Amino acid sequence: MGMPEAQPRIANVAAAPDFDAMHFRRTLSQFATGVTVITTRASNESVAAGAPPFIGITASSFNSVSLEPPLVLWSMATRANSLPMFRDGTHYIINVLSASQLDLCQRFATLKGDRFAGVDYRLSATGLPILSNALAWFECHNRSRYDEGDHVIFVGEVERCGVLDGKDGPLIFQGGQFTTTAPLDL
Ligand SMILES: Cc1cc2nc3c(=O)[nH]c(=O)nc-3n(C[C@H](O)[C@H](O)[C@H](O)COP(=O)(O)O)c2cc1C
Repeated sequence: MGMPEAQPRIANVAAAPDFDAMHFRRTLSQFATGVTVITTRASNESVAAGAPPFIGITASSFNSVSLEPPLVLWSMATRANSLPMFRDGTHYIINVLSASQLDLCQRFATLKGDRFAGVDYRLSATGLPILSNALAWFECHNRSRYDEGDHVIFVGEVERCGVLDGKDGPLIFQGGQFTTTAPLDL
């Protein structure tokens, strides 16, 4: 029996970042994403106080999680005004934007007031807005939420989804710019 071998030292907390927030943002922004608008119903109290019945935000943090059961995720800043309504609602719709919907991307990221005024949509099975001309949509049950840093990660269980028959390409966000896809010559 020899001497016990030294255990490798594994730190159980991360070292402080060696970069600032600007550098982190710029590095993250190299990852190209699609862009979604996520919609839900406003709370009864806010509607009673005169707010519009639906709310929505632009989000690029969408991703797939699981096929069986069908799960997707997205994350929302804790400082977003609509966080309480997304957290407390039973369902939301994730609308995948096309390149011709840059105006909706900007509208649902910045507009104060009724973001749905003048916007075309139809109502889903649970009565939530599916935006006309979106590339695709997912109607999700608000399955779980995880507080992480300055965001809340939402995992949605997809009850219904659909592809709309548009000819437009996807809206793509990369390096702080909006683009669309072009096929590579292979
Ligand atoms: C391209 C793009 C992607 C965005 N992605 C997210 C996101 O994933 N999560 C998020 O919380 N905010 C995201 N935002 C910002 C929100 O759309 C914005 O803060 C929104 O106005 C929040 O609305 P509220 O404060 O009324 O809830 C994104 C904005 C843009 C332009």
